[in-house]
Amino acid sequence: MSILIENIKELIQVEKSPKLLVKGKDMASMQTVKNAYLFIEDDLISAYGSMDDLNKSVLLFATEDVKVIDASEKMVFPSFVDSHTHLVYSASREIEYIDKIRGLSYEEIASRGGGILNSAHLMQKASEEELVESALVRLKEITNYGTGAVEIKSGYGLTVESELKMLRVIKKLKQISPLVIKSTFLGAHSIPLKYRGHQSKYVDIVINEMLPKVADEGLADYIDVFCDKGFFTVEDTERILEAGLKYNIRGKIHANELDYSGGIQAGVKYNALSVDHLEFTGAAEIEALLNSETMPTVLPGAAFFLGMQYSPVRKMIDAGLPVALASDFNPGSSPSGNMQLIVSMASILYKMLPQEAINATTINTAYAMGISHQVGSISIGKKANIFITTPIPTYEFMPYYYGTNKADVIILNGEVVKVNSES
Ligand code: NIG
Ligand code: FE
Repeated sequence: MSILIENIKELIQVEKSPKLLVKGKDMASMQTVKNAYLFIEDDLISAYGSMDDLNKSVLLFATEDVKVIDASEKMVFPSFVDSHTHLVYSASREIEYIDKIRGLSYEEIASRGGGILNSAHLMQKASEEELVESALVRLKEITNYGTGAVEIKSGYGLTVESELKMLRVIKKLKQISPLVIKSTFLGAHSIPLKYRGHQSKYVDIVINEMLPKVADEGLADYIDVFCDKGFFTVEDTERILEAGLKYNIRGKIHANELDYSGGIQAGVKYNALSVDHLEFTGAAEIEALLNSETMPTVLPGAAFFLGMQYSPVRKMIDAGLPVALASDFNPGSSPSGNMQLIVSMASILYKMLPQEAINATTINTAYAMGISHQVGSISIGKKANIFITTPIPTYEFMPYYYGTNKADVIILNGEVVKVNSES
């Protein structure tokens, strides 16, 4: 089966020679083709260009079965890549959210056994089937907003059994969902109450009891630690990252959300694929990142929802760094996986140009999932995970017109999986 999309008003984020990531001032450039076509064969992008160059007969001749879609007045984007989520969870936490409105801080809620521990408590009781079912609903929701690849973390288990249960759920999702999914083992997400005061014992369990089983069953692509004030220390983090590397599992860590925790430097030291959150990023952290292969990843949804200070994204880009932006979709600090909203927050809250915001949510997040050879741009041979927009005047309209869904026809693996305007 092939798809020819023709009369595309503008084809966004095309790459003739695909890059692994975009950094510094290059983040402000993005290639597009106006009045374009895109040809998809099976699950891959096989050709694109301007309508003037389209020799339809050649393409049609090449295959028997071509579905033609007219995209006049509409644009085509590569699917968003969301490199940081916790979308497997058993229940929402809006009651805690009201506590936050009343003035309790994230740390105060956590120290009362709320927050992550609340989700962990609920997780113990949930069955794998229930978790798969509710996660599939969330995956459908983000698919409809244009996401085509997503990373999902464990971390609401916090016991051997429960962490394995979460990771098995993610494995199942990989098998049944059309999205590209990567899984991350986050045993060190919070310190269970009984290990408070002697948390290195819990770190021992993560390293010696959880990780070998996770590796043995092939349940994790990456390993994560919440390295921050009130959570795991640099020493804990380094022990876990080192243990992960023994199994060839690279880090993708939560760092510097609540303080200058040293997490960024620890991530760089162990060649983590990404360090995420980064509200507390100063000159030393920027310097460490400049000489690394670690993608700085900012999570605007969490900073917005928690009313935190914002990560100094402009400073990072101006210093020559790449920046990725992900949703952090989770029930506690960012209950939304809408990447279009993240693109809007990028420009409104972080003063990023539309081109920077699109690079940050496509190619750079693809790097932060280790899949930039596969998705993140319109490039021949990459996976045909794309969306056709509703009629929009310019691509700058994407961040500007915040709050509505501008993704209409959703194509994953070369197949139309949803047409939002038809539902
Ligand atoms: O990424 N920062 C740590 N972990 C999550 C919060 C998860 C929760 O509150 O349930 C985050 O924001
Ligand atoms: Fe997170």
